[in-house]
Amino acid sequence: MSNRVRVIAPLNESDERTLADDVLDGLTRPFKELSPKHFYDEVGGELFDQICDLPEYYPTRAERSILEADGASIVVASGMAELIELGSGTADKTMILLDQAAAAGMLKRYVPFDVTEAMVRRCCQICGGRFSESEIIGVVGDFERHLAYIPPPIEGEARVVALLGGTIGNFVPGTRRQLLRAISALLRPGIDHLLLGTDLVKDPAIIEAAYNDSAGVTAAFNRNVLNVINRGLDADFDVEAFEHVAFYDRSHEWIEMRLRASRAMHVKINAISLGIDFASGEELRTEISAKFTPERLADDLAAAGLTLEQTWTDSEGRFALSLSSPAA
Ligand code: SAH
Ligand code: TRP
Repeated sequence: MSNRVRVIAPLNESDERTLADDVLDGLTRPFKELSPKHFYDEVGGELFDQICDLPEYYPTRAERSILEADGASIVVASGMAELIELGSGTADKTMILLDQAAAAGMLKRYVPFDVTEAMVRRCCQICGGRFSESEIIGVVGDFERHLAYIPPPIEGEARVVALLGGTIGNFVPGTRRQLLRAISALLRPGIDHLLLGTDLVKDPAIIEAAYNDSAGVTAAFNRNVLNVINRGLDADFDVEAFEHVAFYDRSHEWIEMRLRASRAMHVKINAISLGIDFASGEELRTEISAKFTPERLADDLAAAGLTLEQTWTDSEGRFALSLSSPAA
């Protein structure tokens, strides 16, 4: 790869440690839980792509429709010369923004940032060819720990940090605000912006269907996290013995995803010398996906020192994209 297109990989030195630490911490809690970033190995990434195409999973289509309708306004309002995308995945929807910024002759640099190395490399390869006038710098890292590896901003050029797909909703409120604060520190007042995608509160039946699809893809995706642990930490989870559970918690306004042990089990996680017992019917929390009201969004942003400037929603009011800026 030329210097114009390159990949920085801080995660390679510490990724096994991350999985080991998260599993040790999460599975020894009184209510067992796992951190959301371990779903996306090669298989998990493919299953997530399938989720995005499911008839029940509306968030991807809703966010895409906003980008198609308002992408040009977002590019203009933010002055997007540099786009840093956290949790970029395949960057499918992002292309809409990148194409607009490039067509306007504005796009100096795109930085896809993801934990999954193969996705970052593929994204850099595609973007390197497609945006021949722009610098493409991939970062393989954990955005909760490795934001410092992002290159410094380009002098005098507007930077946008994007977190799309509702990924911010996968963090509990405290961690969510910490993450927003850390992102805010990457932004210069008066020039840079955060572009945030958030799923909105709506009829619980619509939300629950999105996480309990009839084809069982979400169930396979949820269970795949146990395969990741089996492989990465030499564990012996009987993956098929866990059932997918997803329900909308109305008081928190979030979807909670769990795996329920269909019988009593003892699981060995050899790489960290850990034995874990599951009672029959015991549940392991794997992920939350918070849904937002405009008030919650503004409050979370304000708590992180960010001011909400503009919000775009799809025609059915299902999903929101918002642009905010750091306080001076
Ligand atoms: N932005 C895409 C993908 C969303 S899925 C979309 O809107 O469709 C979430 C993505 O975030 C996955 O690619 C996952 O690998 C990545 N991810 C999750 N937690 C992460 C973390 N802590 N650090 C870096 N990437 C993370
Ligand atoms: N960020 C996505 C969301 O909250 C991730 C996701 C979709 C997900 N379906 C899932 C995570 C099922 C775990 C299980 O909508």
